[in-house]
Amino acid sequence: MQASHSRPAAMITSNTVLDLIDAFRRSKTMFAAVELGIFDGKRPPDCKELGRLLDACVSLGLLHKTGDTYLNTPETDKYLRSESPDTMAGYVRYSNDVLYPMWAHLEDAVREGGHRWQQTFGFEGPIFSHFFRSDEAMREFQRGMHGFGRLSSPAVAAAFDLSRFRRLIDLGGGTGHLAEAARERYPHLEAQVFDLPGVAQMFPGTIAGDFFTDPLPEADLYSLGRILHDWSEDKIRMLLSKIHAALPDGGGLLIAEKLLNPEYVSGHMQSLNMLIVTEGRERSAAEYETLLRAAGFAQVDSRHTGAPVDAILAIK
Ligand SMILES: C[S@@+](CC[C@H](N)C(=O)[O-])C[C@H]1O[C@@H](n2cnc3c(N)ncnc32)[C@H](O)[C@@H]1O
Repeated sequence: MQASHSRPAAMITSNTVLDLIDAFRRSKTMFAAVELGIFDGKRPPDCKELGRLLDACVSLGLLHKTGDTYLNTPETDKYLRSESPDTMAGYVRYSNDVLYPMWAHLEDAVREGGHRWQQTFGFEGPIFSHFFRSDEAMREFQRGMHGFGRLSSPAVAAAFDLSRFRRLIDLGGGTGHLAEAARERYPHLEAQVFDLPGVAQMFPGTIAGDFFTDPLPEADLYSLGRILHDWSEDKIRMLLSKIHAALPDGGGLLIAEKLLNPEYVSGHMQSLNMLIVTEGRERSAAEYETLLRAAGFAQVDSRHTGAPVDAILAIK
């Protein structure tokens, strides 16, 4: 295992507290601006206080102002304009519509354990039936995953030498950004996505199926991008054993997840997020290694990528 990307523990001052009080206001300002189409050049005429929001966006560096005109910066044009290929507007909308109201129940989630779908929206049933409660919700969720994924997948595909593998199946691969990054780096690699039937219908070329209940398509390399953090430990053990059984000797499993360490703030925020919306949590490299070895993998290696998710390669 490689050493973690920890940084020295932060010194807490009154400014830190003030900054954390402000932090959700900054997030919500960006969410509202995306929702109102500000970075798509819209200036909704029926808003009484649009100027106040636009000035706040200028103060955050999200817009610049010349005379009376507010314009995107190059970065907001890339990451917050809806039609940009690198847009993260989908994840912002998903954060505004779904995560923001659910996080209002963080104390209850901490007290009682368990996700907050029922408490926030009155939904019962398996978690992905909530993420995918309508075609539009599914599309919004996948657009959100895609924006984040494009930031990480090239780094995940480059984290290990995968040149010996011939056929990759990305389990729960969503829009296919990891399969695409793997194909780009290893042009000989045949890479396909396997995902739930509703998602497969949305993205042509995807193999439809359920990785818990259906047989896995043949491959010498499987990948799981931000999948394990969604599920309970029992389900993870079952899935890892199933993948191990499906692989030939020497076959691999590439995992893309945040690797938790005590000072990794974004990892801990994501772990709380997983508490609120899923059955799962984030884990350290050592915790993943324990699970992978218990499933039978002989060699486990992890890499910090510097991207929003890190990489683990396990070999049968
Ligand atoms: C958190 S998203 C991650 C998507 C993608 N791997 C990424 O990193 O952007 C979880 C994905 O797992 C898929 N999924 C959930 N349950 C599944 C199941 N039982 N079988 C196959 N795919 C599943 C979802 O449809 C979704 O695309």
